[in-house]
Amino acid sequence: MIIAIDGTLASGKGTLAKRLAVHFELPHMDTGALYRATGVAALRAGVALDDAQACAQLAGQLDLSEFEDSELRTAEAGQAASRVAALTPVREALFRLQRDFAFQPGGAVLDGRDIGTVVCPEADVKFWVDASVEERARRRCLELEAAGKPIAFDKMLSELRERDERDRNRATAPMKPAEDALMIDTTAMNPDRVMEVALAHIKDR
Ligand code: C5P
Repeated sequence: MIIAIDGTLASGKGTLAKRLAVHFELPHMDTGALYRATGVAALRAGVALDDAQACAQLAGQLDLSEFEDSELRTAEAGQAASRVAALTPVREALFRLQRDFAFQPGGAVLDGRDIGTVVCPEADVKFWVDASVEERARRRCLELEAAGKPIAFDKMLSELRERDERDRNRATAPMKPAEDALMIDTTAMNPDRVMEVALAHIKDR
């Protein structure tokens, strides 16, 4: 079974993906980490974040073991990720990696922005996870505070808006729900409830 989970930042899609992977004993890929690592690799190498060919080359040579998770989770890495993710050659360089992961024997869970629409339109189950931008900013501030990297709520709110805008409006693989995805608005839901809704949908299918 291939499960595709797309949605906005801090909507709860990553938590749902991890929980479904454990529940069904499937491997999980956080595809955002690929774009974050590409962005961080470009920053490290002093490559401009709009240099499509140089960024695509970095994406093609990516070795995730060279990146600390904490380094990938910063606000700066997220912004860099969203800029390199808008470059078509970068998306092409990461496409095969994601598809091969999805089509391994037994299936997989992948979360990102374009899994149900571009990477894996044939996925057996698709979810679109979203929440109000204020609630997502609140969650992300709490996460960064717990990680010892606090950021002001208003700054986070404007960063999220900017990021959503760029992800939605890019020419290649814009962030959008697949037509056959189940929409889950997690604004007023805890992770247990989100999991219940997702499991009920999978059972129905
Ligand atoms: O989900 P996460 O916040 O880690 O993703 C970081 C950025 O990577 C997103 O803002 C988006 O621009 C990009 N991304 C993407 N396609 C994916 C996953 C992430 O464009 N499948």
